[in-house]
Order: sequence, then structure tokens, then C-alpha cells
Amino acid sequence: MTEAPTIPWKPYPDLSDDDRLAAVEALRVSLATRRTCRAFSDRPVPRAILESAILAAGSAPSGANHQPWHFAVIASPDLKHAVRTGAEAEEREFYAGKAGQEWLEALAPIGTDADKSYLDIAPWLIVIFGQRRGGPNPGDDRQNYYVTESVGIATGLLLATLHAAGVATLTHTPNPMKFLNRLCNRPDSEKPMMIVVVGHAADDATIPVHAIKRKPLDAIATWL
Ligand SMILES: Cc1cc2nc3c(=O)[nH]c(=O)nc-3n(C[C@H](O)[C@H](O)[C@H](O)COP(=O)(O)O)c2cc1C
Repeated sequence: MTEAPTIPWKPYPDLSDDDRLAAVEALRVSLATRRTCRAFSDRPVPRAILESAILAAGSAPSGANHQPWHFAVIASPDLKHAVRTGAEAEEREFYAGKAGQEWLEALAPIGTDADKSYLDIAPWLIVIFGQRRGGPNPGDDRQNYYVTESVGIATGLLLATLHAAGVATLTHTPNPMKFLNRLCNRPDSEKPMMIVVVGHAADDATIPVHAIKRKPLDAIATWL
């Protein structure tokens, strides 16, 4: 380590390994019940829950701690509708063939199509932007590093935190997403990466059987 200012750091509490295993198992079991929601009700979710979840997302590690993300949070019905209109225009072309046969076949078991009515119905849309330039302090204008990786981790924390709060989410990625810069008043140097739809599941919500499949441990990990 080179010389840089430091502060004392209190590491994790001294749990027994049994308690650690119980903690990781409890979190694993909870996270395993998260599902992507595609049928929302209009039941409100308090803004304070989103504020806390976004702060949790913002606690993520990031390249050089530049925190290269911006969360544009939409509740306005007019703006939600504009997002829906823009997303559906892109998605109509996507599902009409722009995606290519292989991608469409991959999506077939999920059953998605160009209808994105949930963008009108869910109480909140969080549009997540990756910032090519920025820095550790608000207003910085320096090169950012590992933007995609950093935003991905932050998005994971956002989803996990909202799930822990009992709030449903959908990660929606209309393709392409550039129209979101204009709607959210974000500069061209920022890349829209995801719309996280936030709300409560509709009473008649279903999930595709395909979505519950998960690879076993020996297929996703090697121990060397
Ligand atoms: C980067 C990313 C993009 C996604 N884009 C969409 C999307 O545009 N529309 C959609 O309905 N689901 C989308 N999904 C959700 C996946 O289909 C879903 O996570 C997967 O089928 C597993 O289901 P689960 O989230 O319920 O476990 C996306 C997920 C990720 C991680």
C-alpha cells in the first residue's frame, strides 16, 4: 500500500462460523424468493423506501470509488407514459425481428412481448445511468473506470434491498435506450443501462416457469 490517508476500520463482528453459515443461508433463502415481476398493481410504495434502497445501491464498490451511476426516479404519470411510449416503440421493432432469431428464441420461454403497460401502472420507475465521466465528488469531470461492472453491482444491491423491503421489481432493458436521456434530462455522456420498475405485484401476477430454473453449484463454480 502506498501512503494515503486512512481511518481505523472495525471489521465484522466476531460471529462463530455456525452463525455465519446461518446468516448466509438465511440471506440465500430470502434472495431465492426474488422474482422479476411483470404484472404490477398501482398500490403506492413510499418514497422513503426508494431513497433508502438507492443509498444502499450507492454504497456499492466501484472503480476508483468514482460511483459512476445516476438514478433518475420517475413517479409522474405523464413521464411514465412517455417512457412506455418510447420503450414500446423500440420493443415493437425488436420483437418484429431486429433482435435476431436466436435472441427471440431465448426470450420465448419468458413470454415477453412489446406490451409494456406496467410502465404506466407501477408507482415508480428508476432509470439507471452509467456515467463515463465523473469522479468521487459531485461535479467532478474525470474519466470513470469499470462503469458497466460498477453499475451492475449497484443495481444488484438495489434489487436485493427492495426485495428485502418486500417490494417487487422488474429489470427492463428496452433496446436501444437512448431515448431515456432526453426524457430524464441526462447528458449524452451518460448511458442508460436499465429501467428498474418498482411496485407491488398485481393479485393475478404469474411468473414464467422458465424463470425459476437455476444452475446447480457445480455448474456455476469450480474450486481450484
Ligand atoms: C440485464 C437484464 C435485463 C433484463 N431485461 C428484461 C426485459 O427487458 N424485460 C423483462 O421482462 N425481463 C428482463 N429481465 C429479467 C430476466 O428475464 C429475469 O431476470 C430472468 O428471466 C430470471 O427470472 P427472475 O428474475 O424472476 O429470477 C432482465 C434481466 C437482466 C438481468
